[in-house]
Formats: sequence, structure tokens, C-alpha cells
Amino acid sequence: MSSLSPFYTLTSLKQTLLFDTRKGKPALAYWGEPIIDVNSLGNQFRDAEHIGLPALPAVPRSICLTPVLSEGFFGSPGLQVHRFDCSWDTNPTLIEVIEGPSSLEFGSRCDAHGIELHQRVHLNDADVIEFQTSLINRAASSLCVDSCSAITVGLPYDFNSILSLHGRWGLEFQPQRTVVGQGTFVIENRTGRTSHDSSPTMLIGDSNSSQNAGQVYGFHLGWSGNYQLRYEALATGQKAVQLGELLLPGEVILEPHETYVSPIAYLSFSNAGFNGLSQHFHAHVNAVLVGGSSNLNKPVHFNTWEALYFSHDLSRLFTLAERAAAVGAERFVLDDGWFKGRKSDQSSLGDWTPDPVKYPDGLKPLIDKVEALGMEFGLWVEPEMVNPDSDLYRAHPDWVLRPSSEDAALARHQLVLDIARAEVQEYLFQSVSDLLSQNRIAYLKWDMNRVIHQPTGQDGRPSVSRYVRSLYALLAKLRKAFPHVVIESCASGGGRADFGILRYTDRIWPSDSNDALDRLRIQQGFSYLFPVSVMGSHVGPRKCHLTGRELSMQLRAGVAMLGHMGIECDLTQLNDDELDTLKSALATYKHWRWLTMSGDFFRLEVDDSESACQFVAQDGSAVLVSYALLDSRRPILPRRLKLVGLEAAQAYQVELIWPVKNKFHDFCQEIISTPVMGEVLMQWGIELPRLLPGSIITFALRAAPSR
Ligand code: DGJ
Repeated sequence: MSSLSPFYTLTSLKQTLLFDTRKGKPALAYWGEPIIDVNSLGNQFRDAEHIGLPALPAVPRSICLTPVLSEGFFGSPGLQVHRFDCSWDTNPTLIEVIEGPSSLEFGSRCDAHGIELHQRVHLNDADVIEFQTSLINRAASSLCVDSCSAITVGLPYDFNSILSLHGRWGLEFQPQRTVVGQGTFVIENRTGRTSHDSSPTMLIGDSNSSQNAGQVYGFHLGWSGNYQLRYEALATGQKAVQLGELLLPGEVILEPHETYVSPIAYLSFSNAGFNGLSQHFHAHVNAVLVGGSSNLNKPVHFNTWEALYFSHDLSRLFTLAERAAAVGAERFVLDDGWFKGRKSDQSSLGDWTPDPVKYPDGLKPLIDKVEALGMEFGLWVEPEMVNPDSDLYRAHPDWVLRPSSEDAALARHQLVLDIARAEVQEYLFQSVSDLLSQNRIAYLKWDMNRVIHQPTGQDGRPSVSRYVRSLYALLAKLRKAFPHVVIESCASGGGRADFGILRYTDRIWPSDSNDALDRLRIQQGFSYLFPVSVMGSHVGPRKCHLTGRELSMQLRAGVAMLGHMGIECDLTQLNDDELDTLKSALATYKHWRWLTMSGDFFRLEVDDSESACQFVAQDGSAVLVSYALLDSRRPILPRRLKLVGLEAAQAYQVELIWPVKNKFHDFCQEIISTPVMGEVLMQWGIELPRLLPGSIITFALRAAPSR
């Protein structure tokens, strides 16, 4: 413990954070480009008192990490609590600061109200800052926590342009730009999971910020339950950003000496536009969140869902496994439909043993076959749910979340198990452990297919907060027991995609839509936060099941290879040409996956009718560039595609790698037959051929030896 200094700093090569504690509260007074002489920066700070604010108390200029109304902060309070005697007006004062090598912990107390507050800040090697707040009840009576944000920070005045990610089932992660004058922009989620509707993410720039330039601030809450993110432009001109769990009435009540710990808020700053910010988040995911389990050689999946749905039949499965192995799949994932009595989505969730009719000898014959073909075996589960038509529900109808006054409402014919109950946790741990210990399973697709809109627990209180913590605990326990098993987070597609769940899982299924054109937009939105190493991306059927659109294999495969590639269609329905194209796509993916999984990712600035991205190897030796034309809203002449992030004075040999054979090859080879300088590729670009809508084209660049 140190005695209090007026200022505390965290700094890296890319950003400086300066905390001002002179008002008895920690406030992030400066956050942005690195400042070497932080003392002279501190000397610039003036109190707002001397300005003489009309009809206002002497408000501090900097917004503290947990602001409250009684200090004269008129935005949303960072902490709202009350006791059963109705006392509520807490105002904690800083009493200690613990300094670590790249972290700070601010400890505050409000003796009058009997609470203690700890804000932990950690700036890590990926240039991501983790903020987390803990609240301890130090009094002898119960404390109701109405809200306790992970963090509140102020932003420079000009930062009023918010990029957020929204959508729906089958079309997640659609970027939206909102410019806020005075007033508030709020993202609220009450769906009980991260949601398809709004990602817990705000990326904030000024009017000049673009993909590759300008200063931008990123905010993400690592939480898979209800949340609230607010951007407030106050009358003072101050901009406050606040992130935290959204608590339902009476959801968190702290008994004496109990602690509430907020979810972790992940923040980052970049002066290299939204791409710079994304690269920080990607590095954080790869190095910290999935770091322990990450193998960047991501194996090609074959997933049975869109080929079979619930119609599992061992001989068809064997045929599919043979075809999958023949085209180059490396992991065979048995999706929904394998367990006892499961004929449709109307029954059997909860009964996690193989269906005795479909699998009379269990999963072993299929696993043996899959392994004999050189693939790993993966299995789909949805442990948090139960169908009323199941042995589990018949035995334990009281195990579900349900409102006190009425029956629980079904969604997708299923109910939500109250996984915060010890006996439910134990049942689920045992069921999944039995599957994993009795079968050779390398991978679990952990699904969750409904919202939680009646989250009442056994004690009559709201239970989303407890639910999410129990889910994390269950996953942590399973990972400890089965460290070799890779887990994917899926919730009807991308309904549970956040840094909270990624602490316990390795891959995310971003959408149920395998429509390659929609996927390009979904994947671009997804890329603001997540690296392609955690992004499942499958080649769907010729006629997309969600949109009815028919798309070529060249496009479907060309899009899937930009993520963690897989196949999710009936391989017995493909013609020879499609099979050949698919086979060469998998070979191309395998050849280049080292680069897509570990390179710096850039979204390229193109029009709405196009999509383009680029990967640059960490050592600069190779680059991949992909361009897709989504529709026909383009002028007659194709564009020149300008690249980014290259060495200006380096020559690059450019090669068309996808599609492998088509009429563009001659055109492209002609224009790229000799090495091209980086400065030319960045300022002039690559001349693209005239493409039909629904086409994708991918180039590889290799740094050429200097002549
Ligand atoms: C929703 C998932 O997103 C699909 O991929 C599939 O696994 C189904 N659930 C199975 O019920």
C-alpha cells in the first residue's frame, strides 16, 4: 500500500492513462496518446471551481471512476444502492491505492453508509485495459445493489461518433454509426444472454475517425447476461461512458461482508482508426482470453446440422464422414439430434445419453469411423436447457426458472434450467463429464437456444446475474477436468459472443446464417472485436437455408476461408465441380491459415456493395487481400483496391489464390506478373477485374527479395 499521490499513471508504447485523485476520488483525467512527461501533464489540470459555474456546485472537471449524484455528477451514477431502512446516499472517499507493475487498485470507503469500493485497472501487453469494480457491504444490515458499473470514464469533448453492433437472429453484428449531440445513447440488454440484438460494445471516434486513421476509443463489457452501456453528452460538455451489468429489482442483495464483483470492462485507445483498435482487441483475445488453448492451426470442421438436422442415421453419417475426409475436413462435429428421443426440437433436452434407436451401440462406432478417417470428433450439447418432454423434466419439474405466479413460457419448446442451484450444476457437470470421459471427444459445441425473459429463481428473486456466474463456474470446472476439449460458444448463432464467455470457450459461432453474402457483413461486424481465430465460418448448402438465395461454391468457400473454416452442407448433394472447388478451397485455407489466424487484420474502406479485408503477417513477409462484390450497385469500371499496412519501400510478388481456376487468372496474372512496390499498392492499389455480383477474389502478396 502506498500513501496517496495526486496522480497515478499507467502507460504503454501506445497509450497513457493518468488518474487524478486530488478530489478524494480516482478519475481518469487523461487517456490517449502516450505522454512522456506526465508530471507536466498533471500540472495542466485546473479545478473547475475557478471557472465559476452558474447555478451548479463546484463539480470536478474529471469524471471519477464511480461517480455519484451527491458529488454533483448529473449523469448516470456509477453506483446506486439502498438499505431496507431506505438510506441510500453513499459517497465513497479514496483511502488507498495499490500500485502493481501495470495495474492500479483504488480502494474507497463510505463509513456513513458502511460500504467499501475497489476499482481495479490493468493495462496489459495487448494494449487493452481491464477495469473491474468490487463493492463490499461493511455494515450490519443487508445492502441492495441497484447498479454498480464496472467503470465510468470521461472522453475528450469531440468524441461523439459511436460505432455499435446490432442485429437479429441470422443477421448479427451489423455496424451502426450514431452521432450524439447533447443527450444519451444507451445499449440495454435484458435477454439473459449476450443477445443477437446489441453487442456490449461501443467504439467512439470523432468526425475524422475512419478504419485506418484517427483516434478512437473502444469499450466492451465481457458479460454474457444483462447489461447497460451508456454514452452521455452532458450539459457541461463532458462525455461520460459507463459500462456495467443491468440488475433487475432485488437481484443483488449483499449480506454483511458479502462482495459484489462487476463484470470486466475492456477498454482500448488507438490512433490508427478502428482497425488499430480491433487489432488490440484481437491480440487480447488471442494472447489472454483463449491464449492457453489456442492452436492457430485451426482444423477444418464438418458439421452435420444443415446436412441432416434431426435425421441421424449411422450409414448416412458414415457416408458424410467419408466425403468430409475426402475433401479435407479435419474435425467431424455431430450436431443436434443424437441424444435420447430427440426427433425434433420439441423433446429430450436434458437427457444427455445417445439415442438407443439411432445409436444402438452408443457414439463409439461413429467416433471410431471418424478417427479412422483421420478426423477428430466433436459433439453438440445444450446443457442449460430442458424440454418439458424429457426424462429430466419429468423427474425434476422444479429445476427450471419460472415466474412465481404463472407457468414458465416456452421458447423453441424449451425451458431454462436454474443452473445456479447446486443440484442442477451437479447434474450438468456429471452429464457432460460422462460424455467426455466415456467417449473420445475433442470438441464441444455448447449451444443455448432461447432468451431468458422469466428469470425467477427458487427464492423468488431475479436470477440472471447468478445464472451467468454459475454458467462460467460450470464451464471453468469442465475445462479444468477436461483441459484438452475445445469449446465453442453458440446461442442460436451469435447470441453469446463476448469476452466474458471467451474466458471459458475457444470459438464462437457468429450466426445461423450460412448465406455467404450476409456472412461477409456479419463477419466484418464481428471483426471489430474478435479475431478470425475464434470465428467459425462454414460453407453452407448451394441454396441457403435461411435466405433461399443460391450462391456459387466459389463464393461460399471463398468467404468461409476468411474465418475458422468448416463445411455445413450435404456433401452427397454436391456435383463434381462443386466438390473439386471445395477441395481446392480447403487446401488453400490450410496453406494460408497460419497467416489468417495470426496476422494483423484490416477492414478495407469500400462501398456498401462491396466487402474487403486484409491480413498482414506479423513479420511483414506475407499479406492476404480479399475483395467481394455483393451486388450490382457499382459503376462500369471496377475499382482499384488500395491496400494498407505495407512497407512502402518493399516490393511484393502478388498472386491470385482464390478462385483457383477461372477466367480472371490471365487478366490478373498479366497485371501482377512482376513485383509491385508497397507504396504503389497502397497509393494506386491493385486493379481488379470486372466481377459479377456474388463473386470473391483473394490475392496473396509475398515480400520479394530486393533486386
Ligand atoms: C442453433 C445453432 O446455431 C445451430 O448451428 C444448430 O446447432 C442448432 N442450434 C441445433 O439445434
